[in-house]
Amino acid sequence: MKKGEAFYEGKAKILYSTDDPDLIIQHFKDDATAFNAQKRGTIREKGVMNNRISEVLFKYLEAEGVPTHFVQRLTDRDMVVRRLQIIPVEVIVRNLVAGSLAKRLGLEEGIPLSRPVLEHCYKNDALGDPMVNTFHILALKWASESELKEIEKLAFQTNELLRVFFDRRNLILVDFKLEFGRHRGKILLGDEICPDTCRIWEKGTLEKLDKDRFRRDLGKVEDAYQEVCRRVCSE
Ligand code: TMP
Repeated sequence: MKKGEAFYEGKAKILYSTDDPDLIIQHFKDDATAFNAQKRGTIREKGVMNNRISEVLFKYLEAEGVPTHFVQRLTDRDMVVRRLQIIPVEVIVRNLVAGSLAKRLGLEEGIPLSRPVLEHCYKNDALGDPMVNTFHILALKWASESELKEIEKLAFQTNELLRVFFDRRNLILVDFKLEFGRHRGKILLGDEICPDTCRIWEKGTLEKLDKDRFRRDLGKVEDAYQEVCRRVCSE
């Protein structure tokens, strides 16, 4: 498959068209940003690891019945995915209190939630991805009622599947962010699933093995990504 023009460059990825209008190539960079790109850096080999981790997780989810945009991994940093009409909503699922939820509600990180919590943010960098609710999404026609229902179902299903997957590898899935899009009338899970977009803690020690190491200057950032990659890619 040949890379065509780069039609979109984000903070961590570049998207290329291909000769098939239904397919695009998603290229993973080492660049990392936090706090809406106020903090910038690179994490050595992050692109390679996130490509691998996303491949394994998308394949697992597909096999378990979650429709995703994943087609195949092409190279170390490139994967072929279906072209989506992206729904401009970031869907966050939380199992434990952490990050912005801890801050917003004045709670300690690590408190287990008695059931998973789903949040929506408007995907808009200039505004810092503000939180919205389903009324905003419907009123602004970002998604229809049936699409929202489908997205919610897939997000919770993904959470249950990923929780089990990480648990088997001695890891706790604290929270994560998903993006969805439309492809030939169907809702597919898009974007990437990796330590940039998930909070992953070691069971027992609760050591952080995700992008919080970069956000919070905790050190050993590459090591954390390598460790998640090693465990995710092992049977
Ligand atoms: P938050 O606690 O900062 O709202 O983050 C919740 C989850 O979403 C966490 O696993 C990290 C992920 N996330 C992204 O993927 N992109 C973002 O821009 C932000 C702020 C969070």
